[in-house]
Amino acid sequence: MTDVEGRTAFITGGGNGIGLGIARRLARAGVKLALADVDVDALARAKAELQDITQVETYKLDVRDRDAYASTAEAVESALGPVSLLFNNAGVAGFPPAAKLTYEIWDWAMGVNLDGVINGIQTFLPKMIERGQGGHIVNTASGAGLATTSAGVLYTTAKYAVVGMSESLNAELASSNIGVTVLCPGPVATGIVQRTADSTPKTGINLSEEQKKNMEKGLAAATQWLEQGTSIDDVGEMVFKALQENSLYIHTDRMAEDMIKERTKALLAAMPD
Ligand SMILES: NC(=O)c1ccc[n+]([C@@H]2O[C@H](COP(=O)([O-])OP(=O)(O)OC[C@H]3O[C@@H](n4cnc5c(N)ncnc54)[C@H](O)[C@@H]3O)[C@@H](O)[C@H]2O)c1
Repeated sequence: MTDVEGRTAFITGGGNGIGLGIARRLARAGVKLALADVDVDALARAKAELQDITQVETYKLDVRDRDAYASTAEAVESALGPVSLLFNNAGVAGFPPAAKLTYEIWDWAMGVNLDGVINGIQTFLPKMIERGQGGHIVNTASGAGLATTSAGVLYTTAKYAVVGMSESLNAELASSNIGVTVLCPGPVATGIVQRTADSTPKTGINLSEEQKKNMEKGLAAATQWLEQGTSIDDVGEMVFKALQENSLYIHTDRMAEDMIKERTKALLAAMPD
């Protein structure tokens, strides 16, 4: 899609990190922005930064909340016009070990990382198709949606699902003028680790002192690892290029290459002669 100027983009998790990087790049291309997030301070900062470049509206929205999603979509479209660029990007990471998971944590993590994407598709795709004005959807998954990394079972479950959903939507919408891209980042320099630690439900986990220490160490290591990752503005640039070229996949680096090769090799090796 090259005719993005004047279109309206809806970006979840648009207040911080990758969502903000995408918003900055789209603003420079003359796209009107609807930024949705649970972090109202971040939304206010993003609006202050971008409002001199393009029209920006911000919405406090928890992507798990379907009713709020529907009313937000109505508010967005009456303020900025039809949404034809959709970025299902909000996400959380860095979960407790498998043995310490609770239903509450499963529901929260899958709610944000998977249901959030489903809710975005369900809210906007039928209208995009009906209007026939074309469009593009970018779902943010992860390298952890392509191979098993150290990201943990919850994150991996949701991100594999987002990759599968995106590939399937891409195939189904191939004959329409709505493109689908799945963003599979390696490490990106954002504050996701701390933000996730602050918002993870704490009830019923009951970590031992040693497990708490290990988790803290893990959080510090993950924070350090991400700090050296790709910048959010470089990711914004990659997303913009994928939009223009209608690419299905975006990798931000080659970090997952060996793991994807190993997984593919193992899958093929398991097939009968
Ligand atoms: N940073 C990385 O290294 C990395 C790598 C792979 C994939 N990702 C994915 O990229 C996406 C963006 O992550 P990021 O690194 O920019 O993180 P971030 O924390 O900087 O930004 C995520 C944003 O989502 C918002 N958010 C969280 N829960 C929400 C909810 N329920 N409803 C609405 N908004 C919510 C947060 O407030 C935050 O502003 C996520 O889906 C993440 O899984 C990130």
